[in-house]
Amino acid sequence: MSKTFYLTTAIDYVNGHPHLGHAYEKVITDAICRVQQSFGRDTFFLTGLDEHGQKVQKAAVEQGKQPQAYCDELAESWQRFADVLGLCNQDFVRTTQERHQNVVRSILNKLHLEDHFYKANYEGYYSAKQETFLTEKDRQEDGNFPEIYGEVVRLSEDNYYFKLGRHQQWLIDFIESNPDFVTPSNRRNEVLGFLKNNTLEDLCISRPKSRLNWGIPLPFDDDYVTYVWFDALTNYITVPASLGDPALPGIGSESQESMSLWPADMHVIGKDILKFHAVYWPIMLKAAGLPLPKQICVHGWWQKDGQKMSKTTGNVVDPMAVIESWGLDAFRYYLLRELDIGPDGNWTDEGFQVRYAADLANGIGNLVNRSLSMLNRYRDGKIPPRCCELESEVHAVSQEVIELAANHKLQSALKRIWDLIARINRYIDQTAPFKLAKDPEQAERLGEILYTLAESCRIIAVLLHPFLLHTFSRIYGQLALNDRPDRFSNALWGELNPGHTIDKPEALFPRRDLPAQA
Ligand code: ME8
Ligand code: MG
Repeated sequence: MSKTFYLTTAIDYVNGHPHLGHAYEKVITDAICRVQQSFGRDTFFLTGLDEHGQKVQKAAVEQGKQPQAYCDELAESWQRFADVLGLCNQDFVRTTQERHQNVVRSILNKLHLEDHFYKANYEGYYSAKQETFLTEKDRQEDGNFPEIYGEVVRLSEDNYYFKLGRHQQWLIDFIESNPDFVTPSNRRNEVLGFLKNNTLEDLCISRPKSRLNWGIPLPFDDDYVTYVWFDALTNYITVPASLGDPALPGIGSESQESMSLWPADMHVIGKDILKFHAVYWPIMLKAAGLPLPKQICVHGWWQKDGQKMSKTTGNVVDPMAVIESWGLDAFRYYLLRELDIGPDGNWTDEGFQVRYAADLANGIGNLVNRSLSMLNRYRDGKIPPRCCELESEVHAVSQEVIELAANHKLQSALKRIWDLIARINRYIDQTAPFKLAKDPEQAERLGEILYTLAESCRIIAVLLHPFLLHTFSRIYGQLALNDRPDRFSNALWGELNPGHTIDKPEALFPRRDLPAQA
């Protein structure tokens, strides 16, 4: 059984509606997944929801709802969101599902039996907002705790602790000897810096039910529920384990059909949750004797108009509204082209519109439209004899794009595709087929140019497959080609057959003067 390429996003807190940041993470993960599909690999893409914990309980109570009913309602809108984004995820995990709770209980039992936990009293500070314990070290210079922690209270309670500390040196060694485990490298350095300059404290993995009951009860002590991050991180093995993954023996179901997913090839996450994924999660797996994920890929955060997005000030980008108004491909293109995986980004409606006009309407839209219109006008839509004038040039760019995509350099891959689009648009201006068409003696030369243009459009469609969801098949449709251009191996020059008759072009990205609705 060959292993499937398995990749995940973070699971979103269900207390709220999806915003641009959530959309971005899902779109980059989806594109990485489709790149693998373009190579012909089997993929499994998992996303889902983080439903337990204080935040969710509080939000439900504020709306006068039972937490489960509250989650069920919101889960529908999050699932619809995944559909609107066109994600190719095969499953959608919710931490309230029985299959997930089973896996969390198995891991907890295993670690408990093998003496990785102990019970102790804690007296100190607690932030309900971040569901985390704080120490004096966390205070700012003015004596207050940073605003992100919300209200901080003093408490004294017994809890279960996970002996993280003993794995500190192992983790440092592991990250040092696996340079690709955390990418990009500035995030890897951040984790190493943290691990080398701090003593890793044991992790509190329980919350007394008297204080919080919206969680998975500890299987060995019913007075407690599981800490929401221990619960949430486990989601990544829930689906493989419940599919009987051989890498996770004794954890999930004993199902007959079994799928080989674990270890994950990639966890895609935002920079704010790096420590949970690069410190706690590997140690949880190590302690449980399970293989570690191959890579943690960390993206930056979006702002809008240079400010943190915030519901209260109304400074948000609603992805659903942008997609409704501009189309899914325009939205996906902007996210992938504007921001490389790693740095922070800034959304402006104007920037979005400028890219739409320049890259989509005038760039690819214009190229395909001019190329296919001329073929229809001068040759009745019939593909002329093959011409190899630009073969080696287009081939070189295709190889570069494919190589960049294979290395998850999505932004650079798109840049190269658009360099090619610009190059072919220039080729039209330079060769001026519209002039040649007036001179019957230039008929052969005109045919060469028209072949070059149609074949270039086809190859661009193939290269676009992982990134945009409709454009590539619309280009294929306009070329009257029936197969789906979903393999990079289709990017070979000359596949377009002379004599084949294409369809009429239709604007891929109509020109718009309207202001953005976003
Ligand atoms: O952290 N720009 O959930 P979450 C880019 N449930 N990415 C952003 C963003 C922004 N402005 N805002 C949020 C949680 N994100 C936990 C995860 S995983 C086992 C549990 C990203 O809904 C954020 O970095 O707060 C994270 O990767 C994801 O959205 C979910 O954030
Ligand atoms: Mg968050």
